Amino acid sequence: MKLDVVILAAGKGTRMYSSKPKVLHSIGGKAMLEHVVATTQTLDNTQLHIVVGYGADQIKSYFSANTNMPELHWVLQSEQLGTAHAVQQVLPALDCDNEENLVLVLYGDVPLIKSTTLRTLVDQAGVNGLSLLTVITEKPEGLGRIVREQSGDISAIVEEREATEEQKAIKEINSGIMVVPVAKLGRWLKKIGNDNTQGEFYLTDIVALAAQENCKINSSVITDELEVQGVNDKTQLAILERHYQMTKTEELMKAGVTIRDPARVDIRGELECGNDVEVDVNVIFEGKVTLGNGVSVGANTVIKDSVIADHTTILPGCNIDGANIGEKAAVGPYARIRPGTVLKEAVKIGNFVEIKNTTMGKGSKASHLAYIGDAEIGENVNIGAGTIVCNYDGVNKHKTVIGDDVFVGSNSVLIAPLKIADGAFIAAGSAINSDVAAGELAVARGKQRNISKWKRPSKRSQ
Ligand code: UD1
Ligand code: CA
Repeated sequence: MKLDVVILAAGKGTRMYSSKPKVLHSIGGKAMLEHVVATTQTLDNTQLHIVVGYGADQIKSYFSANTNMPELHWVLQSEQLGTAHAVQQVLPALDCDNEENLVLVLYGDVPLIKSTTLRTLVDQAGVNGLSLLTVITEKPEGLGRIVREQSGDISAIVEEREATEEQKAIKEINSGIMVVPVAKLGRWLKKIGNDNTQGEFYLTDIVALAAQENCKINSSVITDELEVQGVNDKTQLAILERHYQMTKTEELMKAGVTIRDPARVDIRGELECGNDVEVDVNVIFEGKVTLGNGVSVGANTVIKDSVIADHTTILPGCNIDGANIGEKAAVGPYARIRPGTVLKEAVKIGNFVEIKNTTMGKGSKASHLAYIGDAEIGENVNIGAGTIVCNYDGVNKHKTVIGDDVFVGSNSVLIAPLKIADGAFIAAGSAINSDVAAGELAVARGKQRNISKWKRPSKRSQ
C-alpha cells in the first residue's frame, strides 16, 4: 500500500490580516506548514503533494531558504475555489486506478497534528472505506459538524454556514484530516458541487456521497483538541504557540532541566540540555542551542544557534548569537556575543561588552564596557574597561592578534591591523596603531602636565 499525502495550503487566511500566506505564520519559530510537512516525513512509503495558491512563491522560497528538506512536490491551485477543488488539483499526480492506495488529506493550518495519530488513522482505513479524524469539543463554532444516524454511523459533515440550528448543537467536529481510497476519491470529487452559501467546493461533501454508497465511514475521535486545532486568526495562533511551548518545556523538565517558569521560556528551534541545567524567566532560545551540564541561563536572555559548554554561567540580560562558549565561562550581565565568537574555558565577559568574530583563549577576561571585533586573543589576557578594537577603517575590516598574558589598560583603542605579542602591556588610555613586541610596554597618550598657580576663569562683570 502506498500513501499519497495531500497538504492543503492554498488559502490566504483572510482573518490573519497579513500579507504573508497563513501557513507561513510560525509556531515555535517554524512555519505552520513546515511543522505539518515534517510530521508527514515520519510516515513510511508516502508521496507528499502540497497544494499552494496564495503566496505560492513566497512559500516555496521559505522552504528553500529555511529548511534542508528534499525537493517537495508543489501543486498550484491558482484560484481558491474550496477544499475539494484544491484536492482535485492533485488528481493528475495520483494513480487513481490503483485499488489499494490511500490518500491522506491534511491542512497546512493545523500544525500540531502528531504522526502517531496519523498512523492510527491510516492503519484503521481500509481500501473500501473513508476514515475521519474527529474531536468532541465545547466550542464547535466555525467548524464542520459530524452528523451521525441513530445507529451511530456517520452520514455527513455539515459546514457551520450550512448547518441547521439542530446541527449547530452537535459537538463532534471535523478536524479536516481524512483518509480516502484513491480509486474512490476522483469519482466523488467529480460529483461535488458548489451550491452552498460560500459558492465553494467543499471536500467535506464526500462524506455524504460515501454514505449514500453505503461505503464504510470510520472515525477516530481524538481527545487532545489542540492537536487538531486549526489556525484562522492571531488568537488561535497564540494559543497553539503556548501549547507548543508547554509541550517543549515539559519534555525538558521531564529530562531534569530546571525551568523557573515554563510559561516564560520560548524555544524557537531545537534546545538540547545536559544535566543540572537551570533556565530563569524570560529566556528565548532560537535555532539550534546546546547547553552542557550545569549551565545556568539568567533572566531576560536570548540565545541563538550557540553551544555553551559545561558549568558556564550566563548572567541576566545577554544576547548570544552564533557563539561557541567553553567550560566554566561567565558571560554577562548585559553582554552581547555575536556570530563567530569562540570563548575558551573560564573566559569572563562582563557587562556592556560586545564581541564578534573573535576567539578568546583560556582564562581571558573583558569585564566591562568594551567592543572586540575580528580579534584573536590568547590565554590569560585582560582587556580593560572601555577598550575598543577598531576593526573597521570605514572600508575594510582588519584583524587584531593578541598573544598570551597581555594586559590592555582601560580606555585603550587598538587600531587594526595589529599584533600585540605575549606579555605586552598597553598603558591605559593609549591609541595603539603599530605592533607591540613581547614583554614591551606601549604608552600612546598625551603626556600629563601639571600647571601650578593656574587661575580658574571667573565670571565677567557686565
Ligand atoms: C475546514 C473544513 C471544516 C473543518 C475545518 C477544520 C471544509 C469545507 N471545511 O474549514 O469542516 O472543521 O477545516 O479546521 O473543508 N484551502 C486550499 N484551497 C482552497 C480552500 C482552502 O488549499 O480553495 C486550504 C487552506 O489554505 C487551509 C485548508 O485548506 O489550509 C482549510 O481551509 P479553511 O478555509 O481554513 O477551511 P475551514 O473553514 O477552516
Ligand atoms: Ca481553517
